[in-house]
Amino acid sequence: MITARLSDNKQGIEQAAEILKSGGIVAIPTETVYGLAASAYNDNAISKVFTAKGRPQDNPLIVHIDGMEMLSDVAVDVSEEAKILASSFWPGPLTLVLKKSDKIADSVSRGLPTVAVRMPSNEVARSIITVSGLPLAAPSANISGSPSPTKASHVIDDLDGRIDGIVISGEASVGVESTVVTLATNPPRLLRPGFVTAEELKEFLPNLVIDKAVLSELSEGEKASSPGMKYKHYAPKTDIVLVEGESGAFAEFVNSQEDVAAIIFREDEEKMRVPTLCYGSKEDRKGQAQRVFSLLRDADNLGVSKVYVHAPEKRGIGLAVYNRLIRAAAFKVIKL
Ligand code: TXA
Ligand code: MG
Repeated sequence: MITARLSDNKQGIEQAAEILKSGGIVAIPTETVYGLAASAYNDNAISKVFTAKGRPQDNPLIVHIDGMEMLSDVAVDVSEEAKILASSFWPGPLTLVLKKSDKIADSVSRGLPTVAVRMPSNEVARSIITVSGLPLAAPSANISGSPSPTKASHVIDDLDGRIDGIVISGEASVGVESTVVTLATNPPRLLRPGFVTAEELKEFLPNLVIDKAVLSELSEGEKASSPGMKYKHYAPKTDIVLVEGESGAFAEFVNSQEDVAAIIFREDEEKMRVPTLCYGSKEDRKGQAQRVFSLLRDADNLGVSKVYVHAPEKRGIGLAVYNRLIRAAAFKVIKL
């Protein structure tokens, strides 16, 4: 299959919409990461997405909408609470798990009675939804298990020849996938941390519970509230290990190892004696989120056998960065 390169202007948006309406699959930019879009009404298109990504069959997809009118095609029994969250955080990187409408293909939710839905703030993404007139199911546009794509080049590296088209646009501004909250449970539950933080959500959902899978590995046979959380994820080919500790201790530990590199904070830079990639200042949690996936891909080009990552703080957007890194490290953490 030849993957069409589409531009992010009016013509490219119309071409993407045409492909989607005829049951094809197209990678599109969003503010979080690039998504691999298909019509949420079309079972056959959805199955192409699973094949192209090599996605585990039980992992449901997020449906993207362009406005509140489309929400009623996707979800039913939308509560006041959900409407308040939508009006506060949409368009933007928050996904709500709600009761599914029958119009949405069963293959989107993989048999669950719920559907995950969000309204992206990226204008190109929203225009493609509007011009096609379709709610779009879209997981991240990477091969399952590899770091999520924040640049068009990452999508091409993973999916060229496996999808119908890619809309080439700029680098994702948020850099980590949306925050996922389920309102289908009582109390509501944070399933995946993101740019919209747990602290911000608690102002609206004081009884919000942070799902156990956010920071720890589920044991064999334990049921995941969000199927995506049980998989090893985001892993480059190089072995990744997360290291918690202050700058001096981190540098001393890493410098004493052979054949390694490190993903570090700006503040560590001067002390390091191994090859490094910097993901920003220790306090710049937005910057860390924006760069983390791209650096995990770059880590594979360093030619070392192990990469130590200086762990971010687990608050604010840092919780999202920590959540992605601990999966990239297959839960290997060293506490100094
Ligand atoms: O920012 C994002 O959310 C990106 C962009 C493209 O919008 N999309 C994305 O999709 O990250 P994906 O497929 O990589 O992650 C979807 C997550 C998975 O962890 C999945 O298990 C969860 O959402 N999910 C989807 N539907 C669900 C449902 N009905 N109940 C619980 N979790 C659900
Ligand atoms: Mg993904």
